[in-house]
Amino acid sequence: MLNGSLERKGGFVINDYIDANRRSWGLVAEDHYNAFKARLSQSASLLNPVQHQELGDIRGKSLVHLQCNTGADTISLARMGATVTGVDLVPENIAYARRLAADFGISDARFIEANVLEVADRHDEVYDIVYTTEGVLCWLPDLALWARNVRALLKDDGFLYLLDSHPVYMLWDEEKLPELEVKYPYFVKQPDQDAWIGGYASEAKQGTNFSWMYKMGELITVLSQAGLHIEWFHEFDWLFFRCSAYHQIEEAPGRWVFPKHKGKLPFTFSLKATVR
Ligand SMILES: C[S@@+](CC[C@H](N)C(=O)[O-])C[C@H]1O[C@@H](n2cnc3c(N)ncnc32)[C@H](O)[C@@H]1O
Repeated sequence: MLNGSLERKGGFVINDYIDANRRSWGLVAEDHYNAFKARLSQSASLLNPVQHQELGDIRGKSLVHLQCNTGADTISLARMGATVTGVDLVPENIAYARRLAADFGISDARFIEANVLEVADRHDEVYDIVYTTEGVLCWLPDLALWARNVRALLKDDGFLYLLDSHPVYMLWDEEKLPELEVKYPYFVKQPDQDAWIGGYASEAKQGTNFSWMYKMGELITVLSQAGLHIEWFHEFDWLFFRCSAYHQIEEAPGRWVFPKHKGKLPFTFSLKATVR
């Protein structure tokens, strides 16, 4: 069993946080389905060009997409030639992901409702690639458990591809950007509670949710302890979404920069980790 610590801290906390997040993400599922359906009709792939280049040729590979939301990137990955399985916590997301795949004629995409902190206990298949990107780690209260699940989902010659916000971006008060004022301390262990969810592919909706700061040292350590070897680790001065309507510019598809901070601060990172 990998799922040893889900009930720790008094037997209540983590599962209650996860339940709240499940409910809140469900509130924006329909809007996400509609928004991503429109985007996928315009473009074969919603993946950032950097991701295409970093992932390389995935034709014929089996790929599991963790935290797949309503499946838009999963469909993009299927269109790139992988055999895809999407995993998400939220039943509404899974239902809409199946619908989105059907809308675009991707008949062999599979979608599984599961918490990524316990998915390997419920699903015993292994894959060439674990793919997880763009707004994933902050929703996870236990990175060590996540890393063990990632390892358990990989074939011995498989790899993890991860791209997410850099913790340096996670520090700042979002209302004040591009001015830099620390609102979310790097070393805090308690979750941040927010009353609003969504906003990047839907209107933001009222729904209590919890997120966690993650630390680079912790991420590297948990991957290593789970038996994964980091082949490379990249940092970028752009963010993969528009978080500030007035202060960012899209310098290239899917690359949003604050001109004031260009070349000075990391906003996104990516890594590839193989099984040792
Ligand atoms: C910002 S979205 C990620 C979007 C993703 N980049 C995509 O492909 O559309 C975060 C996702 O994480 C999911 N999530 C949050 N906590 C989770 C957990 N413990 N297990 C599985 N999925 C989770 C949410 O339901 C949501 O779909």
